[in-house]
Amino acid sequence: MQHLMSPMDLSVEELEELMERAADIEADPSAYSHACDGKILATCFYEPSTRTRLSFESAMLRLGGQVIGFADADSSSAAKGESVSDTIRIISSYADICAMRHPKEGAPLVASSRSLIPVINAGDGGHQHPTQTLTDLYTIHSLKGGIGNMTIGLCGDLKFGRTVHSLINALVRYPGMSFVLISPEELRVPSYIRDMLIASSIPFSEVEKLEDALPRLDILYMTRVQKERFFNEEDYLRMKGFYILDKEKMTLAGEDMLILHPLPRVNEISVEVDDDPRAVYFLQAKKGVFIRQALILKLLGL
Ligand code: NCD
Repeated sequence: MQHLMSPMDLSVEELEELMERAADIEADPSAYSHACDGKILATCFYEPSTRTRLSFESAMLRLGGQVIGFADADSSSAAKGESVSDTIRIISSYADICAMRHPKEGAPLVASSRSLIPVINAGDGGHQHPTQTLTDLYTIHSLKGGIGNMTIGLCGDLKFGRTVHSLINALVRYPGMSFVLISPEELRVPSYIRDMLIASSIPFSEVEKLEDALPRLDILYMTRVQKERFFNEEDYLRMKGFYILDKEKMTLAGEDMLILHPLPRVNEISVEVDDDPRAVYFLQAKKGVFIRQALILKLLGL
């Protein structure tokens, strides 16, 4: 049985197959509308979510399957002190596949070790978020015609942003990638990410000013400052306004530079940028459903 904890669980070949399938589904969704008849997805979300949970649910419903689950820890038996290991044992007999989000790093991994059904990490604390990465890769792949030989700037909260960690992990395996890591000093990528980039001889630089990076990027991946991972409000408020991408800054960017964002946006991209054809974050969220459909099919062996 295959689980998905990090993008590294999938080979580049498997990623390519998933994206091909997602493109197939996107081109002709009705061809897949009964692919999961009789199957049940459980969404176990111990932490807030809009896109990830609903796009998983939408993906399963669009495949003809059904969905059960909970959207916050307080409405589950976690509130009574049940462990994720016990919860997943039970869910294993109620559903065929489970997407789990948890504020604790590694909780979905613990669950997967006790599970009788495939478990998908839908975000674990500040650690990893592999299905957001699938969404990001699929968006880049379909809009740029492939992945490779690109400079990608990741901007914002690179310390706590799990989508950033997963995306870097996935992209280093493609040829000709280089990274510009744009963050304030306090929110730089964790050292395990930096060490991995150095060990794999991947070109990267760490800068503080977005303006300096913009002209040389093929892709800008914006992120919000992860409020819920800060120990005190003051630090968050100081960091929150650090980057604001607006129309004026966009004049520094190339004509083909894509702006991605895992969303939710707080204030880091001003709404006036939404109409810029380079802003593809809403399309990216839409594409997240197709790639999750492809993933569900793969993990169910369909
Ligand atoms: C991201 C997450 O939960 O890590 N959101 C999402 O799943 N699209 C990004 C974020 O919350 O900032």
